[in-house]
Amino acid sequence: MNQLIAPSLLSANFGNLQKDCEMLNRSQADWFHLDIMDGIFVPNISFGTPVIKTIVKHTKKILDVHLMIVDPDKYINTFKSLGADILTVHYEACTHLHRTIQAIKETGMKAGIALNPHTSVDLLTDTLKDIDLVCLMSVNPGFGGQSFIENTFEKVRKLNYLREHTKTNFLIEIDGGVNTTNASKLVQSGANVLVAGSFIFRSENPTQTIADLKNI
Ligand code: DX5
Ligand code: ZN
Repeated sequence: MNQLIAPSLLSANFGNLQKDCEMLNRSQADWFHLDIMDGIFVPNISFGTPVIKTIVKHTKKILDVHLMIVDPDKYINTFKSLGADILTVHYEACTHLHRTIQAIKETGMKAGIALNPHTSVDLLTDTLKDIDLVCLMSVNPGFGGQSFIENTFEKVRKLNYLREHTKTNFLIEIDGGVNTTNASKLVQSGANVLVAGSFIFRSENPTQTIADLKNI
């Protein structure tokens, strides 16, 4: 299987980010996943511009930015300038989602939509042809280290079916509680990108854990 692995820096050691970035650069990780939380859309605040600049300085890989914020339109150009390659906004945070997607794409970044666990993939049928990625949240967003919600398997299968039947080619990303127990079933169901935070950074050998996820 050729799934992409996107370690979430939310679980990295912020006391020595350079070290974790260098470990990820040497590992089989494909993307860096950055979780941006505003304390309003989700009940937690993560990190902002200075930390992102440090990460960008030390990475050679694709920057996959997941915005868990209200009014993401305000920050599209900021994330473009910071070096984001993919910018994902939440379906639940965008009143004019089509406009937001167009604005992201106009900057040259790839555009993604994230869905909370309660949001049906059916709501995306009018948007799928315009986007590059759908991020299915397999936990309620806001924190690392939560348990995987089993209903995600059904959502991946449905979304994969929609992708085949609409002849679109966005990537399906899974975010939250991903580990080597659920990874292979997720990929078999149609997932292309696996985000993992605590499973990687809390393991004894993160480089090996990334290899394990890559080679399931
Ligand atoms: C949760 C974030 C995730 C989180 C995943 O709101 O979007 O990216 O870092 O962490 P784990 O893999 O620990 O569930
Ligand atoms: Zn995320």
